[in-house]
Amino acid sequence: MIILGFESSCDETGVAAVCTERGLLAHALHTQVAMHAAYGGVVPELASRDHIRRIVPLTRTVLKQAGIDLHQVGAIAYTAGPGLAGALLVGASAAVAMAWSLDLPTIPVHHLEGHLLSPRMADPCPDFPFVALLVSGGHTQLMRVDGVARYTLLGETLDDAAGEAFDKTAKLLGLGYPGGPALAQLATQGDASKISLPRPMLHSQDLDFSFSGLKTAVMTRLKEATAKLTETALIDAELAADSPAKSMVLAADLAAATQSAIVEVLVAKSVSALKQTGLRRLVVAGGVGANSDLRRQLAKKLERLQAEVFFPPLELCTDNGAMIAFAAAERVKHGLVDLNNPRDYSFNVT
Ligand code: KG4
Ligand code: ZN
Repeated sequence: MIILGFESSCDETGVAAVCTERGLLAHALHTQVAMHAAYGGVVPELASRDHIRRIVPLTRTVLKQAGIDLHQVGAIAYTAGPGLAGALLVGASAAVAMAWSLDLPTIPVHHLEGHLLSPRMADPCPDFPFVALLVSGGHTQLMRVDGVARYTLLGETLDDAAGEAFDKTAKLLGLGYPGGPALAQLATQGDASKISLPRPMLHSQDLDFSFSGLKTAVMTRLKEATAKLTETALIDAELAADSPAKSMVLAADLAAATQSAIVEVLVAKSVSALKQTGLRRLVVAGGVGANSDLRRQLAKKLERLQAEVFFPPLELCTDNGAMIAFAAAERVKHGLVDLNNPRDYSFNVT
């Protein structure tokens, strides 16, 4: 069966076609990053309007790339939430309208289930059971995954998500939106050991996280260092000319220190989750899973522990339609979708 999937929960419009037997056939994505960058964050009203503009053209592209027409599609999946209400409604409305006109079932998909199962699109595909580290802009969770729809929450953030910590620190450092990739880029030029930052809840016995204090610590270090720079610059005229360069070095060191603190906690808690569950497979999903330092540190640590780590293909780490169509296909394959469901086409958006 071919499933068409829509993702529109935030600032990415994603459409994909997945076959239950052959896997991903095609996917297309439009990111609104450039549009929101001027505002320093996602503007919900603009996001919804852009999804409206993009969703049908992207669907055409996907059908063409997959070499199919709409009549070969067997079900239509969409992100039901969590996300921005107006943005979600665009994907849900498009899915329901198409399904109604073609007399097809709809499959509402939880956005996090999409992320969670996305590493199974990679080759090699991780078998169940595994521990999943779900790190996105809105969530940081450790889950035990025993199968499709068999998820147990092991721990989660008590305040900010890891992606949020990246984004907020990036904002403090005057980097663009979205902050995660920008901060990671700047970190490559910095020295993490020059600035000491807290490792929140690193030694707590549970599998929970807390990242909000990190942002405050970065702000304090930034203020202290800026004050010192200004003081020196005032005393020494020669240094004054040099201070913009010093600020750049400082920003790079802060970026490296922030990334290092976040990554260290994520790696340590993932290892604890593997130890506590006795599982030997870790799957990383969500936007922060694109971070190369996290990938490197996890790979290194898990190799030492003779455990395996799986990542989704880089392009499928952040929000996309493929993960939604794929999660729906996994549910269909496991007999979890009533394909003869009464076609009442009520919206299912959370
Ligand atoms: O999964 P995602 O695309 O959207 C949500 O469901 O939230 O994740 C977006 C988050 C943002 O916070 C973004 O800054 C972060 O993922 N992110 C990264 C990187 N790429 C995206 N954080 C660190 N390093 C990256 N390379
Ligand atoms: Zn997401």
